[in-house]
Amino acid sequence: MVKMETAELETDLSLFKYDNLEQLPARYRDLCEAERTERIEAALSELGDDVVILGHNYQRREIVEHADFIGDSYQLSVEAAESDAEYVIFGGVTFMAESADIITDDDQTVILPSMEASCPMAGMAEALQVDAAWAEITAAAPDANIIPITYMNSYADLKAFCASQGGLVCTSSNAHKAFEYAFDKGDKVLFLPDKHLGENTAYRLGMEDDIAEWDPWDPEGKDAEAVAKSDIILWDGYCQVHERFRKGHIEQVRADYDDVTVIVHPECRREVVEAADRAGSTAEICRVVEEADPGDTWAIGTEIHLTRHLKRWHPEVNVVPLCGDACMDCNAMRQIDPNYLTWVLEELVEGRERNVIEVAPDEKDLAKVALDRMLEI
Ligand code: 13P
Ligand code: SF4
Repeated sequence: MVKMETAELETDLSLFKYDNLEQLPARYRDLCEAERTERIEAALSELGDDVVILGHNYQRREIVEHADFIGDSYQLSVEAAESDAEYVIFGGVTFMAESADIITDDDQTVILPSMEASCPMAGMAEALQVDAAWAEITAAAPDANIIPITYMNSYADLKAFCASQGGLVCTSSNAHKAFEYAFDKGDKVLFLPDKHLGENTAYRLGMEDDIAEWDPWDPEGKDAEAVAKSDIILWDGYCQVHERFRKGHIEQVRADYDDVTVIVHPECRREVVEAADRAGSTAEICRVVEEADPGDTWAIGTEIHLTRHLKRWHPEVNVVPLCGDACMDCNAMRQIDPNYLTWVLEELVEGRERNVIEVAPDEKDLAKVALDRMLEI
């Protein structure tokens, strides 16, 4: 493998894809939970079947308890595709709402309660940067058929780029299938933006000796000739939440609990996935806890809100966070404040659409090709 270091986060990353931030009106800022719940329920009963609320597993309790569907990013994209509600309210981050807009019909509207819910990892692979990298890497391997795969955690323009080059989208639950699809069609993969998911998938497929890394921020890290020799080229992006898990956390939890089983998200570093008993998407993490026997102990290595939900939903199982109680909070997911949910719903009752996520039509068609390829594998 050519290199696997973590880049320092640059301050000029486009953490906020959408800059038309709607400010929450002052009268919504201090609602107490009881009043808010009552108002959300009243708005939902007024809106009826016109609205569906999707909640990612990392959303706060006050959001998921109003959701019609809770799931991982793959499940929520399937729910969005199957829904015929006029309004899809997305409890998640910008790239997920964009994917819902791409998949849903033109007469459906996707609303993200707060436009500030932007996943930093998605901002780590800008389509312009990727275009430049693609030109260099393909020039260095003129005879190779390189297939780009982007993780769902990316913006629509990058999904469109992947489709235009014969590639596709994947989530953490089907990354291995996307790699298999790509190696069936071509001979090399450029995987963006999560190097850890890419590396963990390469190991899963027994291709760990064939990895190189492309660091778009480091002039030294962009050696096209060198990376083009490898079959799997990983973009140097990562999730700041999952990168904080360390092998030491697993050693500690094994020392603290007898018979603990450790499951982590595949966005974690390789050493963490290797030290764990299992790795899986947020849906897989939910499934193992659901299927656990009463009294079993599971340590969960992912965003803290999901661990807290699992503790509440399955009191018969001993669910423990892998790293203390407070250290793995996704700030992007947290931006979906329940006061924002109240506001967008009450605005809809008044006939006003707020915080609409709309992908540009030219990107939308191509990005849909990349998402459809994922839904078919
Ligand atoms: P899942 O696809 O497993 O839900 O993960 C999405 C995500 O953002 C993980 O950080
Ligand atoms: Fe993005 Fe990480 Fe938050 Fe997932 S947990 S939305 S990858 S920052």
